[in-house]
Amino acid sequence: NYRIKKWVTMPVKVGKAMRNNELRGPTAIDTDIIPSDSEHVFAQEALYQEAMMRYHCAILEMRTKLEVLSKDMTVRYRRNPIEFIESRLKKPSSIARKLKKMGLEVTVDNMTQHLSDIAGIRVLCAYIDDIYEIARMLARQKDVKIITVKDYIKTPKDNGYRSYHLIVEIPVYFSDKVRPVRCEIQIRTIAMDFWASLEHKIYYKFEGNAPEYISKDLQECAKMVSELDDKMLSLNEAIQECIAQQDKDQIRMNEELMNDVCRDVLGNNKEYKDSKVQEKVTEIVT
Ligand code: GTP
Ligand code: MG
Repeated sequence: NYRIKKWVTMPVKVGKAMRNNELRGPTAIDTDIIPSDSEHVFAQEALYQEAMMRYHCAILEMRTKLEVLSKDMTVRYRRNPIEFIESRLKKPSSIARKLKKMGLEVTVDNMTQHLSDIAGIRVLCAYIDDIYEIARMLARQKDVKIITVKDYIKTPKDNGYRSYHLIVEIPVYFSDKVRPVRCEIQIRTIAMDFWASLEHKIYYKFEGNAPEYISKDLQECAKMVSELDDKMLSLNEAIQECIAQQDKDQIRMNEELMNDVCRDVLGNNKEYKDSKVQEKVTEIVT
């Protein structure tokens, strides 16, 4: 049941103005969490509301962690591994459907014990390498407990689906106590996401029974997306190498320039050659 709707997107690029509705995202508790028609699904409404508040807070925490990583890398390494972060809370109807499918009664207890994807975060990257980098950086954080990893990039699903999935548990500090809360994190490239949303639409349209030619075309597209991701990655690496080479050339030119200046000032004499000035110049410009 991957019919996730209502994903909320927020730009995370440093220096870019946030959209006006920034605070609408996962903070829009009132209408998003408890639709008016859900009373019959959860008799224990107060318990349900509290549980959903906890997932909502886990999303806030997780988004902050990801945004911190993104800003830090942008400022320190001039690299922008995260293009967008999206998040959503699972809808009551989806929760009920999933529990029933698992043969469980629809209760708040069952929901918190058996479902790991009530809080969902989706991280969109430009390049495949960024996906693994983000996953590594999260895994290194002491308060992030990795519960499961599903690497659909190394092993795509039969339909062609590619994405990196993590179920994690993070501590959330509430007014009375700290509680571990689980969330599902999907990390994928923009190209993978483009494919997944089309596949999702088609799956929906044909209720899982798409005609053979469409499924084939989709698999074909998945291959093209995979090739595109590989090409974009190697192209980016080539560009990075050029930039590094340019930096090196610039350093060498600066060194020559400084040496010229020193020679002019100090004279091209023996003392200059023997002195530590030249070493100093190299030290300054590199
Ligand atoms: P669900 O019961 O669907 O949550 O799957 P799961 O518990 O086996 O976990 P999995 O990691 O396989 O999938 C989790 C989520 O990934 C889904 O809810 C979807 O959002 C997404 N997903 C998984 N497979 C597909 C797929 O084939 N196509 C698309 N578009 N999305 C998928
Ligand atoms: Mg799911």
